[in-house]
Amino acid sequence: MLQFFMKGGTPLKGEVTIGGAKNAALGILAAAIMTDEPVLLENLPDVSDINVMLRAISDIGAKVERLDRHTVRITGSSIQTQKVLFDYVRNIRASYYLIGALLGKYKTAEVALPGGCAIGARPIDQHLKGFRALGATTTITDEGALHAEAPALVGRHIFMDVVSVGATINVMLAAVLAEGRTVIESAAKEPHVVDVANLLNRMGARIKGAGTDVIRIHGVEKLHGTYYPIVPDQIEAGTFMMAAAATNGDVLIRNVIPKHLDVISAKLLEMGCTVENYDDSVRVCGNPNKNYTNVKTSPYPGFPTDMQPQIATVLALANGTSMITEGIFEKRFAYVEELNHMGADITVCEKGDVATINGVKGFHGAAVSAPDLRAGAALVIAGLCAEGYTSVSDIKYVLRGYEDFDVKMRGLGAQIVTVSDEKEAEEFILSTGGDCDDLRELQAI
Ligand code: UD1
Repeated sequence: MLQFFMKGGTPLKGEVTIGGAKNAALGILAAAIMTDEPVLLENLPDVSDINVMLRAISDIGAKVERLDRHTVRITGSSIQTQKVLFDYVRNIRASYYLIGALLGKYKTAEVALPGGCAIGARPIDQHLKGFRALGATTTITDEGALHAEAPALVGRHIFMDVVSVGATINVMLAAVLAEGRTVIESAAKEPHVVDVANLLNRMGARIKGAGTDVIRIHGVEKLHGTYYPIVPDQIEAGTFMMAAAATNGDVLIRNVIPKHLDVISAKLLEMGCTVENYDDSVRVCGNPNKNYTNVKTSPYPGFPTDMQPQIATVLALANGTSMITEGIFEKRFAYVEELNHMGADITVCEKGDVATINGVKGFHGAAVSAPDLRAGAALVIAGLCAEGYTSVSDIKYVLRGYEDFDVKMRGLGAQIVTVSDEKEAEEFILSTGGDCDDLRELQAI
């Protein structure tokens, strides 16, 4: 089983380049099959969630041509079925975007219901509410798939009861090919919602207001092919910002949109770190005497829930007591136990939504496992700060959303490798000045 294996204690220094946004790309891949003409996508991240989506699109008959690692051409004219019932699609949550896309284009869709990271109950009632408002009937089949169909989709005024990225994108996908005007109120404003809308507009859709809480869509009869570069990943960038801060490093993070990182930068500044913004890059320098601060996650432009474990790791090394309130998902503190194994002092309230973080002087290496995608990244950051060796197992979660995570960290001077067995771990330990006792110690933890 693959693990990240690292020796902590080296401040990260240098430059790292951020890839395309996974969460935007998932919506964009679904949108790309809504025309019969080719859609050329650039800056597609090479991560496992994206590869699952590409496989699903290809398995229903779309032509998927990978021109290079980050460029793909999708042609939806050869789609043979609107049923996406492959078991593997349950592994990614965003497979539900295929419902909006297929329903919009063909007025019928059936997709195996999604999985994703185990971060709490993740209902899809708002997606269904939107599809139904547009005139679709929705049923859950005995096999656990969502079936949606409509004789015709007709634009409507839809009030979302919850601000949901997924529901906003899904309903937007279906509505661009509905008759008449759709208004989505209480829409999510995340950069990836805007990116999907921008692509759809390049394909001939008429969407206004993406990035605000009211999105207005004039339905069009059909969409056409285009070329589109995917927006840089806000969360990957934020993760490297936190890694720079946690290790007291000095890192220039390239290919970012600094505006998307404002709230993350603001928290780092509160901690006493330095953040310099340039046109398409941001430089973060850590502060060995970090101040505590409080964080509450909320929809964009609030602090992203997907950055919560990473900032908790930095705050665990700050002076004083910080509080983090999770405002989006129920189970987003599963990593706390692992971080506490490494010497952090964090308690989570009984209700599970508030963590109290008493800053400690440092972490020590341990064998920990990633409970979900972003928590896995946070544990790597902790390992890079820790004294001694750390192994992070279950890295399949991390690989869902971070391309070449260890390679990029190594580029910044981190001592980290991916190992598949004990022998490789031993080789790494010996090559970094440790001895076999270090390995035994780690196994005994
Ligand atoms: C997306 C992101 C995920 C991020 C999250 C919040 C993708 C593929 N994933 O997930 O990384 O953590 O946004 O920024 O883009 N809700 C309902 N009913 C619904 C839909 C959502 O009650 O029909 C609730 C959820 O339980 C959650 C909140 O709304 O409490 C926000 O969820 P949502 O924005 O939909 O998250 P996802 O789109 O699943």
